[in-house]
Amino acid sequence: MENITNYIQQNKERFINELIELLKIPSVSADSAYSQDVIDTSEAVKRSLEKAGCDNVEICETDGYPIVYAEKIIDPNLPTVLVYGHYDVQPPDPMELWTSPPFEPVIKKTDIHPEGAIFARGACDDKGQMYMHVKAFEYMIQSKTLPCNVKFMIEGEEEVGSVNLKSFVENNKEKLKNDVILISDTGMISNQQPSITTGLRGLSYVEVEITGPNRDLHSGLYGGAVANPINILSKMIASLHDENNRITIPGFYDKVEELSLKERAEMAKAPFDIEEYKKALDLKDVYGEEGYVTNERNAIRPTLDVNGIWGGYTGQGAKTVIPSKAFAKISMRLVPNQDWEEITELFTKHFIAIAPKAVTVKVTPHHGGQGYVTPIDSIGYKAANMAYTETFGIPAIPVRSGGSIPIVALFEKELKSKTILMGFGLDSDAIHSPNEHFGIFNYLKGIETIPLFYKYFVELSK
Ligand code: BES
Ligand code: MN
Ligand code: MN
Repeated sequence: MENITNYIQQNKERFINELIELLKIPSVSADSAYSQDVIDTSEAVKRSLEKAGCDNVEICETDGYPIVYAEKIIDPNLPTVLVYGHYDVQPPDPMELWTSPPFEPVIKKTDIHPEGAIFARGACDDKGQMYMHVKAFEYMIQSKTLPCNVKFMIEGEEEVGSVNLKSFVENNKEKLKNDVILISDTGMISNQQPSITTGLRGLSYVEVEITGPNRDLHSGLYGGAVANPINILSKMIASLHDENNRITIPGFYDKVEELSLKERAEMAKAPFDIEEYKKALDLKDVYGEEGYVTNERNAIRPTLDVNGIWGGYTGQGAKTVIPSKAFAKISMRLVPNQDWEEITELFTKHFIAIAPKAVTVKVTPHHGGQGYVTPIDSIGYKAANMAYTETFGIPAIPVRSGGSIPIVALFEKELKSKTILMGFGLDSDAIHSPNEHFGIFNYLKGIETIPLFYKYFVELSK
């Protein structure tokens, strides 16, 4: 049997075409209009795992979208790798900003991806990255080089908070037992500089509703005499940050892990060009918490952001009206030690406390999850680093990411195992944005690197 690079060379057209087929199914978990497509995607993932050579491939029903489980147990005495990924994707909107339709994948060249990138919703997050594992597994089966046991758990509700995965994990601890969890659902610094994600932020997501008068009012007849819920909501939101861009909720920072100057100096070594960063986003300047640089603000510091705000008249022309209600969706990214349920409570209490008597406030918590940090001296980290070093020619740099995969902290709590975040996406791949894409280089490099992780993990476990 040929080695992995030959295997990829010979099969790359098929690998790309299979991924394109998967990307054509619009598995948007947030929008019930797509529910049949989400289910169809779970079936497609199931078939791909069967074809690649897994045993016991199952669709595990939940109260929401199914979890696809599969395994290959070659010897119970050998280590077991649990691969987690998600087959659901973010909504594609705003549609008009896509240069090609989100569910009609096409390969286009970009400055960063001269070899081409697949443009489609989910290309990078996470169908493309998840599918690298299926193809890496296929190679190990075909070449008879699979060195240990593998379990796959691919869910369909990651983008909506993994609500049903929690109980699935709690109720299936034995089935999911493993020595390390392997996830490709993060990014790396660049195609020249691999990195391994050693931290994820936690999340608390809430929706707020401010009610003023019991109906929309004529803004001339009533204007000035009653509270306008949009004015009030704007004021309340503005007050959540002080002049140093610190969050004003009492107790919010109490448990925040403060990094030592040494750790911060270590972080600053990762290559980063602030001018390029601004240019890529068409920004005149960056913005954030006083006393921290960009790469700290988006990784080791907690945040509070309005994700959406609405109310009143937003149609054509003008309508003179004082709305009855105003709404906002607010997310807080949290750092290790901050408990998301506690933060949700602190937010709720504070938000109600700062409202004037003239309005009523309703706060509805959505989902959330804890942050995560993992050490760089574990066998899993070392194996990942050895794998990247071999395929990229230079060692990986540990990086804390600002994103969240809430289920990772739960895995550690329930399954007592460490997660290794081997991401192959780039920040510029536009995940969650219009024109999401995934480099062909990244896709194939992932397929090439993953089997080496297995190899070194098993070697180091001996
Ligand atoms: N894959 C992302 C998370 C991510 C991306 C982490 C890049 C690090 C680097 C994941 O699909 C995601 O979008 N998570 C959500 C949280 C979830 C609860 C909706 C997020 O971070 O907003
Ligand atoms: Mn993801
Ligand atoms: Mn995502």
